[in-house]
Amino acid sequence: MTSATHTATTDLVEDVRDHYAAAARTVLDGNGACCAPDEADRFGALLYDADAADVPEAARLASLGCGNPLAVAELRPGERVLDLGSGGGLDVLLSAQRVGSSGFAYGLDMTDEMLELARRNAAEAGATNVAFLKGRIEAIPLPDAAVDVIISNCVINLSVDKPAVLAEMARVLRPGGRVGISDVVAADELTPAQRAERGSYVGCVAGALSFSEYEQGLVAAGFNEISVAPIRAAAEGMYSANVRAVRGPGGRIVSPPRDQAALPVLASPAGAPIESAGCCGGDGCC
Ligand SMILES: C[S@@+](CC[C@H](N)C(=O)[O-])C[C@H]1O[C@@H](n2cnc3c(N)ncnc32)[C@H](O)[C@@H]1O
Repeated sequence: MTSATHTATTDLVEDVRDHYAAAARTVLDGNGACCAPDEADRFGALLYDADAADVPEAARLASLGCGNPLAVAELRPGERVLDLGSGGGLDVLLSAQRVGSSGFAYGLDMTDEMLELARRNAAEAGATNVAFLKGRIEAIPLPDAAVDVIISNCVINLSVDKPAVLAEMARVLRPGGRVGISDVVAADELTPAQRAERGSYVGCVAGALSFSEYEQGLVAAGFNEISVAPIRAAAEGMYSANVRAVRGPGGRIVSPPRDQAALPVLASPAGAPIESAGCCGGDGCC
């Protein structure tokens, strides 16, 4: 890596951290939600079922996801779960309820303000089977084979080193463990420049992998039974998607046909580029 590339990468990480620190601060200071309600609707807050009613309001207000990874992962009692980029902790608290007292849910985030908010929410919820860890998803601070399931909600697109994230996921999952992720994904034909035309990096658009890049990245990292399936369109060629995979050899890709025409399109008014497909990035939020 040249020093110019290194500087640009470091700047991007700091931009992401600053952006989500401000989002968390809004909720910590009691100034409302991270996102305006219409933004939340656009990308996935409505995909939660009634379970979300059982967690602190601040956890719901801080939700910045683009889907419902719990539904993707189909958690079971007794499982150990890790949420990559756990934000205000909503998915960790819901996971903790699903896996019960014999299970455990970890959240991992690099932003101090998000960790503060998540820990406050966990205390308010009285959750005892959770822990929030500080760190980067490119270097997960857990031992090998530490968890049964990895979930994540609109975070991997923000990483500046996605192969490292996928390799770390494989390392910390037990063999046979599974992945259930919601993320923003681009149509295969979109170049990186075209993805950037459709929205910002901190808003979870410009950094999105394409469907094929996601699938091939998971193959290379040692996953099997890989599926990357769009669930809704957020802009032309940009989708919220469910990502599933099982830790183990084989590299079999089982993604469904991508029937893009059948997806509901949730674009910004007048077809303008969206700032944010999954997480808040526009002027109207944070
Ligand atoms: C779009 S928000 C999503 C938060 C949460 N998953 C949700 O659904 O509300 C992205 C979160 O990921 C964290 N994040 C982004 N890049 C990260 C990285 N490389 N390592 C660790 N955390 C990261 C941010 O601090 C932020 O809390």
